[in-house]
Amino acid sequence: MNLQDYLDEAAAVEREGLAAFAGAPDLEALETARIAVLGDRQGRVKALQEALRTIAKEDKPAAGKRFNETRSRLEALHSERKSALERSRASARVEDLTLPARRAWRGAKHPVTLVIEEIEEIFRELGFTVAQGPEAETEWYNFGALNFPPNHPALDAHDTLYLEGEGVLRTHTSPVQVRTLQTYPPPIRVLIPGTVYRRDFFDASHAPAFAQVEGLCVDEGISFVDLKSTLNRFAERFFGASRTRFRPSYFPFTEPSAEMDVQCGICGGTGCAACKGTGWIEILGSGMVHPSVLEAAGLDGERYTGWAFGMGPARIAISRYGIPDIRILYDSDVRFLEQIAQ
Ligand code: DAH
Repeated sequence: MNLQDYLDEAAAVEREGLAAFAGAPDLEALETARIAVLGDRQGRVKALQEALRTIAKEDKPAAGKRFNETRSRLEALHSERKSALERSRASARVEDLTLPARRAWRGAKHPVTLVIEEIEEIFRELGFTVAQGPEAETEWYNFGALNFPPNHPALDAHDTLYLEGEGVLRTHTSPVQVRTLQTYPPPIRVLIPGTVYRRDFFDASHAPAFAQVEGLCVDEGISFVDLKSTLNRFAERFFGASRTRFRPSYFPFTEPSAEMDVQCGICGGTGCAACKGTGWIEILGSGMVHPSVLEAAGLDGERYTGWAFGMGPARIAISRYGIPDIRILYDSDVRFLEQIAQ
């Protein structure tokens, strides 16, 4: 090839290459153009370099100089165009107004926690203090001090989770009644929220670990009137103005004992699936503290009287929020929890 033809060819490669780079609409098109122009195998610049071999010796410096200029101009324009396209791709991403907005991820309180806190709030206004006790208990606190006879079915290994060596996982929050009575002198008004454990199958209405809220009031001259009026006041505050009823019941640690129902808020008492057609929802067990419980805790059972209750906030959450299956409360499924979270 003579020098003039070589210079013309170099000018053509440069012109066409620059046009191809400048006209590339996006990074993919630019890459196709780069392979065609600057590619190591079949690029036009590569061909131009190979053509240098055919140039006469005396013309080589001039041809070589032109080749170097061509290559470096093309490389420079290519990298300039490439960064321009990258910048506009990045900014296009930021400015896409059709993208859905990102929601901030916020934690929230679980429905059972919400119920417990509301119960605490109401009882706090009624003069109760929150108390706590251990989840790993001795058999004596969980059963013996609470007047369970040694052959009571609750003591059976089918119902209670026994720990290796000594002790049980508490099956209710009632042992904290005894611990409180041993620690503080009357008058006592405590509310005891906590987790309890039973050897139950996990089904639509049972969980092997669940929350309870216990209440205890002990002083001189406390009567069943205090029990009924305080619990009615609570029901009125928690469920709104709805009717309540007390049904005779039995617990070893209370005498007399009663279960308390509130009129079903979903059907208004006519009967529905939530109240199993009865019109009533059982919310707690209660009673006058048995003198032998007071005596077990070291109190004079002639001088002092008291009343107590225990309720299951998960059951209350279920009827309040119309939840069909208790297991939903323990699934940690955010799609459910978010509907109730506050
Ligand atoms: N501990 C009982 C249970 O787990 C509930 C209970 C009933 C607690 C009557 C009380 C009470 O304090 O007076 O089933």
